[in-house]
Amino acid sequence: MDTAVIILAAGKGTRMNSTRPKVLHEVGNFPLIAHCIKTAQAIDPKKTLIVLGHGQSEIKKALGNITNSIDFVLQEEQLGTGHAVSVATKELADFDGNLIVLYGDTPFVSAETMAKMENECKQADLVVLGFHPQDPTGYGRLVTKDKELLRIVEHNDANDQELAITLCNSGVMAGNAQLIKTLLKELDNNNNNNEIYLTDCIELAKAEGLMSTYLTCDPTEALGINSLEELGYAEKKFQEKARNVALKDGVNLVAPETVFFSLDTVLGQDTVIEPNVIFGPNVTIGTGCKVKAFSYLEGCKISNDCNIGPFARIRPGVDLSDGVKIGNFVEIKNAKVAEHSKINHLSYIGDAEIGENTNIGAGTITCNYDGFNKHKTIIGEDVFIGSNTMLIAPVNIGNNAMTGSGSVITKDVPAQDLAIARSEQSNKRGGAKKLKALLSRKKNREAK
Ligand code: UD1
Ligand code: CA
Repeated sequence: MDTAVIILAAGKGTRMNSTRPKVLHEVGNFPLIAHCIKTAQAIDPKKTLIVLGHGQSEIKKALGNITNSIDFVLQEEQLGTGHAVSVATKELADFDGNLIVLYGDTPFVSAETMAKMENECKQADLVVLGFHPQDPTGYGRLVTKDKELLRIVEHNDANDQELAITLCNSGVMAGNAQLIKTLLKELDNNNNNNEIYLTDCIELAKAEGLMSTYLTCDPTEALGINSLEELGYAEKKFQEKARNVALKDGVNLVAPETVFFSLDTVLGQDTVIEPNVIFGPNVTIGTGCKVKAFSYLEGCKISNDCNIGPFARIRPGVDLSDGVKIGNFVEIKNAKVAEHSKINHLSYIGDAEIGENTNIGAGTITCNYDGFNKHKTIIGEDVFIGSNTMLIAPVNIGNNAMTGSGSVITKDVPAQDLAIARSEQSNKRGGAKKLKALLSRKKNREAK
């Protein structure tokens, strides 16, 4: 059966006390809404609809390149979660499959749970995902009788007896799309928040003789984020999980609690990550690599058996082939480095291509920017760039060429050539002795 997913993200997020739309706050370097989209896409839905309101243009802009096969729906006034879903179901006129509703501020629902929800729709008319949070304050409570879900009471509307219930609503609800659509029409805002609650569908369904049930999940999966404090807690939980996944996948984290991941970090088996390494967005590393302590990586693709760091900064657009070495205090961006080349010390390599088996000496800089435009440095294979070479781009260094240490290279260097571009040295015989005597006399005069 086909499934559609609706993600609710129109709310203001007042409790965040921030000008940024709530779902654009980030966990694992990706906005909350991107986590939800990933969850939705895991079950390959026929349709994914995102309900936007507050900050809609900002959200669309932020999602820029991940909105393929997603449709946005505008909820002009945020009248409640039930209203938000009813606005979106207008886009599901003829859709007769299952509908799963996700809340944009509940980012960790797993693909397995989504599949279980889908499956449970065969047994019941409506299925809600429940959980037992550490602190149920603020969450809706599930009123149940055995496996049947009778109704959901929002925290603000609950009496003492209902507040004592520890089984809470995660916000994830599933059921036949047309059925939900019909129920939504009957909702009102007769409650303490004057909102149209999606959760009221359960009681309405019961009154019509339909059967609702619930599944439960780990509290971390159902974590709802309403404040910066909860966002911080979510980040902590996300990192814990990412570390465990990496360890299970055979990635050797020497001090797991000091390594920070992004939602999309991919690390290969037998890669070792030393302490205090941070992965920004879009990092892929192959097998058998070593990332040494205090390195920061983002937007890069690193093949197998590479050595990075310590203290390396790998910036977006970097593509390293097998066996490449990037050493301490090296910054590299938008650069392709072929097999077994080395940039081992104190260098800046930007907008460059480097062939295989090339050695870039300590302190080398690709001078890629003239204040207006960026220019490219192309270095061939088996090249030896002497220490402290300034490569003024655009410039090409041919295969097997060499540059002398301290050279400022402004012209292309043909293959096999040695380029030396520095002022010539002259030694003054006894000059050091004479100079010292002169300086010492001067200092003594001044001291008198
Ligand atoms: C909601 C549930 C509560 C559940 C909790 C789980 C309702 C009535 N309550 O409460 O039972 O325990 O989530 O985290 O559903 N939104 C819209 N349009 C609106 C209102 C909200 O798109 O008009 C979106 C928000 O942007 C948010 C989501 O719906 O992403 C949930 O809304 P929120 O106000 O955070 O609901 P809670 O009070 O947390
Ligand atoms: Ca919420």
